[in-house]
Amino acid sequence: MEKFLIHGGHPLHGSICTSGAKNAALPAMAAALLTDQPVILNHVPHVRDIRTMARLLADIGAEVRAEGERYTICAGQIRNPEAPYELVKTMRASSLALGPLLARTGLARVSLPGGCAIGARPINLHIHGLEKLGARIRQEHGYVHAEAPGGLKGGVIPFERITVTGTEDLLMAAVLADGETLLENAAREPEVEDLAELLVKMGAHIEGAGTGTIRVRGVPRLGGAEHAIIPDRIEAGTFLVAGAMTGGELEVTGARPDHLHALLDKLREAGADLSIAASGAMRARGPTRWAPVDVATQEFPGFATDLQAQWMALCTQAHGVSVITERIFENRFMHALELVRMGADITIEGSRAVVQGKTALSGAGVLASDLRASASLVLAGLVASGETVIDRVYHIDRGYEKIEEKLSRVGARIRRVE
Ligand code: EPU
Repeated sequence: MEKFLIHGGHPLHGSICTSGAKNAALPAMAAALLTDQPVILNHVPHVRDIRTMARLLADIGAEVRAEGERYTICAGQIRNPEAPYELVKTMRASSLALGPLLARTGLARVSLPGGCAIGARPINLHIHGLEKLGARIRQEHGYVHAEAPGGLKGGVIPFERITVTGTEDLLMAAVLADGETLLENAAREPEVEDLAELLVKMGAHIEGAGTGTIRVRGVPRLGGAEHAIIPDRIEAGTFLVAGAMTGGELEVTGARPDHLHALLDKLREAGADLSIAASGAMRARGPTRWAPVDVATQEFPGFATDLQAQWMALCTQAHGVSVITERIFENRFMHALELVRMGADITIEGSRAVVQGKTALSGAGVLASDLRASASLVLAGLVASGETVIDRVYHIDRGYEKIEEKLSRVGARIRRVE
């Protein structure tokens, strides 16, 4: 199994370019199932989850061609409208196939995701929403069987809680439904807006994406389109924290500062010196003394749960007590225990983590438990004394494109070993 070896204590300097957003590319790829015409996606990141989605689409019957960051997907025929357990268990976002398959063919069989390192993460809201659009759904042998023989019908879907992929799944179902659909309490994440932009290019009628109410007027069919995926705000945020935390000065290019307001505000509050160029390039420099700053995760535009673990690594370097409250997932503090092994002083009280700083971190062998937890361990390793060995880096490969190469180029001592 591959590991990362990190020698800490080297400030990062230079410029890092942001890749395309994994969490925007995944639904965009699933959207290609809605048409028999080619959908061309640019700026798709080279990460493992994208390869998993490509495999899923190919199994379903689509032709998938990857040339660098450009994917051409043509679902001329749907051979097998199914997302099997083998793929869903490695990537929950496979459930994004449910809405488009049902809308296109009136049939879908998608494995129920099992447990997850960060919380229960059921897909009940996807299922309830599809039922509101007239689908008949039963669960059997670990699979969701969905049918809509006469096609889906528009309806009102009031999400009882905000769900990102749930909103995306229902949006993809609604674009081919007969009549108007209203998604209420919809997710406002930039990834939802990006998906809507692609769907509109394919011929869909959508209003309000990026707000809490999305109105869709169904159309009988969609066509092909070409679209560039938005930059990955979580990758960009991870690098901004990394640069500032190591006491260096890092420029992050190609990202959208308007997708990162909550993080930028917190970095400033903690004492970082931030500047944003007209091009959108962001530059962050850490203070000599970090101030403790409390953070509570929230749906967009709040502080992203996908940056919580990285923020916790930073808090270990702040002078005083920082309280981190995780409001989206019930068990997203696995990294805390690993950070403690490196010398951090962190106490977990239910959904709150209390970080007492500043603690000197010392390199240790640690275990990556999920994607963002792994990123926080990389950040901790960059400031720790001595050598940190991070095991199970396949988690980080799910969502960060060549992170060790990008960090090495700006001065980090990090390498991948078998
Ligand atoms: N939830 C339900 N029922 C549902 C759907 C969600 O109870 O049917 C709950 C979840 O258990 C969770 C909350 O609602 O407690 C929000 O979950 P959401 O559905 O928004 O999460 P997701 O769509 O499964 C996406 C990202 C995650 C990111 C979350 C929150 C993708 C592919 N994944 O997951 O990304 O953390 O939104 O922003 O877009 C990551 O990239 O590391 C990652 C985990």
